[in-house]
Amino acid sequence: MSETCKDSSSQSPASITFWEKNCKVTVCVVRPVQLPAVPVFWGIAKEWSQVESFETRPDDLLISTYPKSGTTWISEILDLIYNNGDVEKCKQDTICKRVPFMEMIIPGVQNGVEDLKKMQSPRLVKTHLPVQLLPSSFWKNNCKMIYMARNAKDVAVSYYYFYQMAKMHPEPGTWEEFLDKFMTGKVAFGSWYDHVKGWWEKRNDYRIYYLFYEDMKEDPKHEIQKLLKFLDKDLPEETVDKILYHSSFDVMKQNPYTNYTTFLKARMDLSISPFMRKGILGDWKNHFTVAQYERFEKDYEKKMKGSTLSFRSEI
Ligand code: A3P
Repeated sequence: MSETCKDSSSQSPASITFWEKNCKVTVCVVRPVQLPAVPVFWGIAKEWSQVESFETRPDDLLISTYPKSGTTWISEILDLIYNNGDVEKCKQDTICKRVPFMEMIIPGVQNGVEDLKKMQSPRLVKTHLPVQLLPSSFWKNNCKMIYMARNAKDVAVSYYYFYQMAKMHPEPGTWEEFLDKFMTGKVAFGSWYDHVKGWWEKRNDYRIYYLFYEDMKEDPKHEIQKLLKFLDKDLPEETVDKILYHSSFDVMKQNPYTNYTTFLKARMDLSISPFMRKGILGDWKNHFTVAQYERFEKDYEKKMKGSTLSFRSEI
């Protein structure tokens, strides 16, 4: 059965086009005026006016990432920081409830905008939106924002596994096919290249802290200390060490409040791939053929040309 996604509002960015396919939650396109189209889930496109008019509070902290860049990791760290390292408080609910996914609307099932409305301040807000689609209230209120980026090849691999197990996505096809979709931005939340560059370009004009997954892997303590500075927060060293321990991959993988094991199998089939999969740098080497690597790098050069942004794909 194939569904058709209707344009529910006449205002920008609501020109919604079908991307593919025949499952109940599929991917549509939100097309901001004069900017490239961005594929998002059907519910987000349908309820876009709710997302666009999201009202921030001045003390909101936005956590922005392209999918599979360490969102859950940085969210857990920030929630631990906000709770001064009190692990029990961070076990009162799953990470999705403690850090709601603002734009994620699955009609009748989930509504990030509504969840956030009910939350007490200070709120941690998660988004995967490219910078040009961020609700304007964030800019108006000059909210602090943390953007976490991860190198493209590891993101592509991680996303491939996520597409297979997280059932709101269309079937990814073979790795070769998925890599093609990734390179052309035909995946949920669009082009990785535009996403990381877009947020990078905005970082000096607003209170945006741009951070890299690879730096976090290399020296998490140092990165957490820098984060604390950005947040104007001071924590004793033993609390920082506690946060480090509880946000480590192995501990988060065992923690039901961060490892997504509480999700129904119909939404995330962890027998296909765990959410906390490998958490390493350089897994792309186990997936890219030499030909894929060469094609990818050539295309990468073109897409990232002129940008001062640079990534490490290995340490
Ligand atoms: P892999 O699939 O490469 O293992 P997101 O939360 O944005 O969806 O990102 C998920 C990716 O971050 C997964 O990558 C996951 O394993 C990794 N990750 C989650 N928690 C982590 C942690 N504490 N340390 C390192 N990587 C982590």
